Amino acid sequence: MSTAYAPGKSILFGEHAVVYGRPAIAAPVQQVRAEATVQPGKAGAGVFLSAPDVNWDCYLANAPKEHPLRVIVTNTLSRLQIASEPDIVVRVSSTIPMACGLGSGTAVSVSIVRGLAVYFGIPLSNEAVSELTFEVEKIYHGTPSGIDNTVITYEKPVYFVKSKTLETLAVRKPFRLAIADTGVCSPTWVAVGDVRRSWERAPHRYDSLFDEIGNISRLARQAIESGNPDELGPLMNENQRLLRAIDVSSPELETLIEAALRAGAMGAKLSGAGRGGNIIALVSESVAWQVEKVLREGGAHNVIVTEIT
Ligand code: PMV
Repeated sequence: MSTAYAPGKSILFGEHAVVYGRPAIAAPVQQVRAEATVQPGKAGAGVFLSAPDVNWDCYLANAPKEHPLRVIVTNTLSRLQIASEPDIVVRVSSTIPMACGLGSGTAVSVSIVRGLAVYFGIPLSNEAVSELTFEVEKIYHGTPSGIDNTVITYEKPVYFVKSKTLETLAVRKPFRLAIADTGVCSPTWVAVGDVRRSWERAPHRYDSLFDEIGNISRLARQAIESGNPDELGPLMNENQRLLRAIDVSSPELETLIEAALRAGAMGAKLSGAGRGGNIIALVSESVAWQVEKVLREGGAHNVIVTEIT
C-alpha cells in the first residue's frame, strides 16, 4: 500500500491577472491536506476509485469519461507506462474545504499522482506531477493559469508567470496570514468566465487593471525577499481595490475583510477566484488571535492562521 499527501494553497497576490500573463504569488497551506492511498484490489476487477468524503465510489471504467478522478488516474497510469489496467483501489480524502479557493481539487490530483508513482515504484519529477495535474485543472477551470498545480506540487511559495520557468520565493522574514472562509462556495470557472467576458467587452480597461495587479505582485515579491513583510499589508488592500474593480468581490468577502482590518490586520484581500471562498489577512503575532476571534464572530465558517516561511 502507498499513501501520499498534498497541501492546500492560498493565492497571496495576482489572481485573475495571472490568467492574462501577469505575475502572481501563492504559498502552500500545510494545515489542510489531501491524502491518497493506493492498495491492491480484487483480482481482475481493475481500478476502483473511492472518495468517501463525498460518498462516491466507482470502477474506473464506469466513471464518466471527463471525471477528474478518472482522468488523473488514467493519465498517470499511462505516464507510468502501466500497460494494462491494474487491480488496485485508489482512495482519496481531504481536509481542504471544497470550492473555496484553497486548492482542494488540485491537491487531490497531486496526491493521486504521487500515490500511484510510489505504489508502482516509479519516480516522477515534480515537473511531471505538475503537468499531469494541470491537465485535470483544465476540466475544473477551463483556462487555468497553472498556479495551483505549481504551488501545490512544489510546496513552496512561488512567484508565478504563466508558461514561464518556475521561480520559488526566498521568504527572508516569515509572516502570518489569517485565512477565513465565507462559507460561500464559488466555482472558479464561473468567476474566470465572467472576467473573460468583461475583458472581451472592455479590453483596454481590463488590461490596465491587470497591469496594476501585476505591479503589485512585483512589489510584494520585493517585500517578501527583502524581509519587509509589513509592506504587504497596504499592497493587499490595493490588490483588493483592483479585484473589486474587476467585479470578483462579494458582500460576504467585504464583511470579513472589514472585520479583519478593524481587528488590527495590516491588510486584507480575497484569495482565489472570489465571489465567495476565502479572504486572507496579514496579521502580527500579537493580533492574530484577536483577528481570528473577530472573523469567527463576523461569520467566517473557518479560520486558519498560517505562517508563510
Ligand atoms: O479559485 P482558485 O483558488 O483555484 O483560484 C483561481 C485563481 C485564478 O487566477 C482566478 C484562476 C487561475 O487559473 O489562475
